[in-house]
Amino acid sequence: MVSSIKAWVGLQSHAEEMQSIHLKNLFHPSEDRFGAFSFSFDHYLLDLSKQRITEETLSKLLLLAEQQGLAGWISKLFNGEKVNDSERRAALHSALRLPENATLCVDEQDVAQDVQASLLKMHGLVEQIQQAQWRGFDGSPIRCVVSIGVGGSSLGPLMACTALEQYTGADIRHLDVHFVSSMDGSELEKLLPNLDPATTLFIVASKSFTTVDTLANANTARQWLLSASHQSIDLINQHHFIAVTARPDQALTWGVPEKNQLLLWDWVGGRYSLWSVVGLPIALKIGMQNFREMLAGAHAMDEHFRDTPFEKNLPVLLALVSVWNINFLNIHAHAILPYDGRLSQLPAYLEQLEMESNGKSINRQGERIEYRTCPVLWGQVGSSAQHAFYQLLHQGTEPVMCDFIMAAMRYESEGEELKEQHQLSLANCLAQSRLLAIGESVSDSEEQQSNYKHYDGNQSSTTIMLDTLTPETFGGLIAMYEHKVFVQSVIWDINPFDQWGVEQGKKVASSLLAELRNGRNEVLDSSTNGLLRYVKSRQQRGVS
Ligand code: F6P
Repeated sequence: MVSSIKAWVGLQSHAEEMQSIHLKNLFHPSEDRFGAFSFSFDHYLLDLSKQRITEETLSKLLLLAEQQGLAGWISKLFNGEKVNDSERRAALHSALRLPENATLCVDEQDVAQDVQASLLKMHGLVEQIQQAQWRGFDGSPIRCVVSIGVGGSSLGPLMACTALEQYTGADIRHLDVHFVSSMDGSELEKLLPNLDPATTLFIVASKSFTTVDTLANANTARQWLLSASHQSIDLINQHHFIAVTARPDQALTWGVPEKNQLLLWDWVGGRYSLWSVVGLPIALKIGMQNFREMLAGAHAMDEHFRDTPFEKNLPVLLALVSVWNINFLNIHAHAILPYDGRLSQLPAYLEQLEMESNGKSINRQGERIEYRTCPVLWGQVGSSAQHAFYQLLHQGTEPVMCDFIMAAMRYESEGEELKEQHQLSLANCLAQSRLLAIGESVSDSEEQQSNYKHYDGNQSSTTIMLDTLTPETFGGLIAMYEHKVFVQSVIWDINPFDQWGVEQGKKVASSLLAELRNGRNEVLDSSTNGLLRYVKSRQQRGVS
C-alpha cells in the first residue's frame, strides 16, 4: 500500500515538523515566497505560496509521485489503455479535444477520427437549429432548447453555458437554453408554462439512456408536447427530440429516430463528457467555433500535463499539494471559491468531478485502504460565500483548504462602473486568502473579551488566476482539474473512472417505488417502513 512506501513515510515525518509551523511564519521578508511557489503556463497562474509547504515538502511530494509511477499512468491514460479497470474501459476524454487532423489508434480503431465525425454531425445539427431550418410541429423555427439530463450529462454543459454566456456573439442566433435535471419535475413544472411548444426542442442527454430522473422528465416533456400539438408521437419525436447517448438502441426504443441521435462511446465517463456531443447545448449557446476553442484550450492543458516535468506541471502540483493537505496535514474539507459570477456553477461541477471520481475506499487491487482519499468539497461564488460560510473558515474549528479562482482582466470595454466592480471583487479575493493564511490578532488596546475578534489564520489556500475568462481558458481550467483528480487517484491507487457507490441506491429506490405503488410494506427497516406508512396515510387523507 502507498502508505507504507518510503516517500509516504518520509512525508509523514516531515509533516510532524510542519504541523507546528504557522503559515505566516513561512513568509520571510527576505525571501520571495510567491516567486518560489507560483507556477505559470500560458494564460494560467497557479499560486501555491499560501500552502503550508516548503521546498522540501514539494520535493518529497514529487518523489511520492515518482514512486507511485505517475509518469506511466499518464501514458496509459493518453494512449487509451484500460485505466478504468473495474469496467475494463479506457478513459479517453483527452481524445475528445484532439485537433481535427490528429489520429489515435486504440484497439485498431482511430478514435480521433470517430470523435471528429461525431462533432461534424453535431455541427450539422447546430447549423440547422441556428439557421432556423429545424422546425417544430407547425413549421415554426426552434427558438428554445431544453436540455434534460443529470450529473455528468448536465453539470458540465450548464457550467459552460453560464460561464461563457457573453460569447453568444452577434453572428450567433439567440436561443434560450434551459437545463432540467430534478427528478421531482420541479424545474419542468416551472418552465413549461412559459414555453411555446411549437418552437421548443428537447435534448435528452443520457449516456446510459436508463437514468430514471432523465427519462421521467423526458416523458413529462413529451406528454406536454402531445397535449399541446395534437400530433402523433412519431412526429413529435422527430421534430422535438434529440438524444445524446452511448445507447442508441435505448434511445430508439424510447422513440428518438437515428437521425436525431448524437453518439458517444463507453470510454467517455459521464463527468468527463462535456467535451463530447454532450456539449451540444454549449455549442448551441456559444456557437461551434467557440466550442472548438474550448476544446483547444483543454487540449493545450492536456499537452502541458502530458509533457511538462512534474515540478512545473500545474495539474500535478495542484494534486500533490492537496494530497499533502489531506493525508499529512489532516485537512478534510475543500472549498471552491470562484471570485467571478460567471463561474457560479463550477463548485457543483467539481463536487461531482472530484467526489464521484475519488470518493473511494478500495484500491485497484480490491483491498480496503487505510488512508484518506477525497475530502468533502463544496463551494459558492466567493463574494457571496463571504456573507454565508466564511465565518467557519475564519474562526471555526475545521481546517479547510480553499481554491480561489479569478480572472485578472474583465470588462475591458464595458464601462468604468463594471470595471470597478471587478477590482472590488479581486480585492476581496486577495484580502480573504491573505487573512485566512496570515490571520490577525486583536490589538493590545482592545478589551480582553475581544478574543472574539481574533483570526487564527493558518488556513491553506491555492489561487488560480486566468488572464481572462474565454472559451479557451475555461477549457484549460476544467482540464486542469480533471487531470488533478487523475493524479490524486494515482497517488491513492484508486480507480477514478467508475462510480459503483451510486448504483445500490437506485435499486433500493425502485423497490421502494413498488412499495409506494402497491401499498404493501413489509421488507424494510423500521424507520423506512414508518416513513412509508406516514406518507401513504397522508396521501390517502389528501394532506398537502
Ligand atoms: O448516478 C450517477 C451517474 O451515473 C453519473 O455518473 C452520471 O453522470 C449520471 O448518473 C447521469 O448518467 P446518464 O448520463 O447515463 O444519464
